[in-house]
Amino acid sequence: MDFTEPSFFETNPKAGSVGQPLDRVDGRAKVTGQARYAAEYNNLPGLSHAVLRTSDVAKGRIQNIDASLALKQPGVLAVLTHLNLPKLAKTPNDAEGKKAIGAPMGFMPLTSDVIHYAGQPVAMVVADTLERAQHAAALLKIQVAAEAPIASYEDKKAQLFDPEKVQDGKTKARTVRGNPQQAFAAAPVQLTHKYDHAINHHNPMEPGATTAHWEAPDRLTVYESTQGVTRTQKSLSTMLGLSAEQVRVVTKYLGGGFGCKGSSWPHTVLTVQAARAVGRPVKLALTRPQMFTSMGHREDQTQTLKIGATRDGKLTALIHEKTSTTSPWDNYAEPNSKIINILYECPNFEATYQLARANVMTSTFTRAPGEAPGSFALECSMDDLAYQLGLDPLEIRLRNYAEKDPSTGQAWSSKSLKQCYQRGAELFGWSKRNPKAGQTRDGRLLVGYGMATASYPVHNNQGTARVRLYADGHALVQTGATDLGTGTYTVMTQVAADSLWIAPEKVRFELGDTKLPTAPNSGGSVAAGTVSSSIYMAAQDLWQKLIKVAVLDKKSPLYRAKAADVEVKQGRLQLKSNPQKGEGFADLMKRAETPDVEGNGQGRYGSGYEDAQAAANADPTKKDEAGNHSMHSFGAHFCEVKVDPDLGTVRVTRWVSVHGAGRILNAKTARSQIIGGSIFGIGSALMEQTVRDPNMARYTNASLADYHIPVNADIPDMTVEFIEEHDPYINAMGVKGIGEISMVGVAAAVANAVFHATGKRIRSLPITPDKVL
Ligand code: MOS
Repeated sequence: MDFTEPSFFETNPKAGSVGQPLDRVDGRAKVTGQARYAAEYNNLPGLSHAVLRTSDVAKGRIQNIDASLALKQPGVLAVLTHLNLPKLAKTPNDAEGKKAIGAPMGFMPLTSDVIHYAGQPVAMVVADTLERAQHAAALLKIQVAAEAPIASYEDKKAQLFDPEKVQDGKTKARTVRGNPQQAFAAAPVQLTHKYDHAINHHNPMEPGATTAHWEAPDRLTVYESTQGVTRTQKSLSTMLGLSAEQVRVVTKYLGGGFGCKGSSWPHTVLTVQAARAVGRPVKLALTRPQMFTSMGHREDQTQTLKIGATRDGKLTALIHEKTSTTSPWDNYAEPNSKIINILYECPNFEATYQLARANVMTSTFTRAPGEAPGSFALECSMDDLAYQLGLDPLEIRLRNYAEKDPSTGQAWSSKSLKQCYQRGAELFGWSKRNPKAGQTRDGRLLVGYGMATASYPVHNNQGTARVRLYADGHALVQTGATDLGTGTYTVMTQVAADSLWIAPEKVRFELGDTKLPTAPNSGGSVAAGTVSSSIYMAAQDLWQKLIKVAVLDKKSPLYRAKAADVEVKQGRLQLKSNPQKGEGFADLMKRAETPDVEGNGQGRYGSGYEDAQAAANADPTKKDEAGNHSMHSFGAHFCEVKVDPDLGTVRVTRWVSVHGAGRILNAKTARSQIIGGSIFGIGSALMEQTVRDPNMARYTNASLADYHIPVNADIPDMTVEFIEEHDPYINAMGVKGIGEISMVGVAAAVANAVFHATGKRIRSLPITPDKVL
């Protein structure tokens, strides 16, 4: 392939650091408390503390807020309500404002007396200490005229409607390919099943938190717990009527995000307004219960999946319907159908989304949004099909293996799903499985094997980075990306080290600041690919600059060489035709009095594809290579459960995941990330559910005591492997990203294992003991 841009594959065929299981470079800072999170900038002069008072009722109007007692308390600086909140230049309350702001939610609390959901902020109290703010907030007397709320799409008062588009207006509410209804009606094998998914919350360890500091009347710095500093900067500057340059957003460390920190929510700008009102820096950290009503959730939803198939198990029709709850203003639904459209070869496909408005806040991206619940429905139904036809669940998947993307007809940029199946089955011992359900026992316990396919798209995005190399051989590498805790600091240090041919310990890597080159949100699994490619491209820019220095330097062995004839290998600038002729970058820089050199680069999605197209435009014989590609990662999960037939408890006892996700940047952090994602997938399968009271539309278990997540004792040792992929199309590094794929298919693998153990098919998540018995 003749790409015009360099790629890591060509310049670094035997990478030094990339791929190695390097320990986290930020590990020491974290375990010694040196790493500062958004709510830990405590040395700001006059730092004050904000506390939210939220509504207990889910629908109504505020009639009166009596703050007199609160305001008399020592140390209280302000009580902000809809009556006195400093006015915002723009709010998301109308469609245009929402778009300009890029807000996840088309409603800003504290702008009117209307209450739309339980947990909505109705007042913010600021005091000199946290305890004083909490005490004063408790003293506010709030009178509300309550009305009967609508709790969900299941509410009798709820009205279903067909939105034009869902998920931030990007996914069509109806997709049709082929002739699905007719194909289903004609199919010799027909399955129709309904799947329910509980509300899930993200529950990162670190809550949403903001420290707002007005350094001048028109200059704001915000330390924010966000997955994207640039998006937060845009959102705040638009709402405040400032230019982007006037708002600096800093996020050096994150204690997880899982999607809830992928957008800027109301508490952030409210804290900024509070800081303006009191003329001091103000800090707000959401409480754990407030985390259930402040930063979105995975919506409650029902899916119906119809499968039409031939008697030998080939899919002929897939018809998917999703119904879910949304807020009074937004048409958000996570896009479940996308994975159903691409995972298996099937000529006829249809997907529709229906929504109902209820008194809840807007739901949002939550840990593999769309793919996680979509794959639950599809992968359970595929399992049903296998049992119905007497085929092995793995065999039914191989019979429907998609050699190209069924939704577009495009070739895959790379796909190693068959190897994932094969390797996973081997590691797990899948061949030992009894084909019949409910037949395998370990003492009194029922034993089940289940498996499922995983996939996640490589989303379109681009980012930038800056690299500065010093003559003494160390480097400063900068980008405005964020590290959710998954290892961005570490893997980017490795990429920079290899791109500059220096050791990782010589690299200082900085991220999480709008002052640094712009990078995309760390969401949708895009950070690893985009940021690594940006750094690699910045290094290439730097080498080109240094080559120019060499060819103009009379003392250089490369003096008067053509720049295009010079390459960089092992940090040595040398003639391509005669590698003996050249010199190391340090020798050159010291002699040429170049103390440092800087490079800037852009990492682009599909850059390999674009480059191939450029090559094809220049040379039509390359046209086939340039063919448009569909870019996805794929994988397979294998799960063993043991079910107590008397108690209905399910334990996951063995786990194997094998993924093909392009280049893996660090064997250790990647394995950890897949393990983490599989664990929260197991959480969604067996434990996680937020219960919304059907009458009051309030969450009844908004705490980590009552919202169950897996603990160490719930999880066995897990086996994770990767199939090495060399994908030249995605980006310069060939990295697909592994943030979300880890969870996709996990709930189905567990549910399929429970079926194999018990013969009972449970189509409602989570699979709690009451459903098993
Ligand atoms: Mo992820 S749910 O796209 O932050």
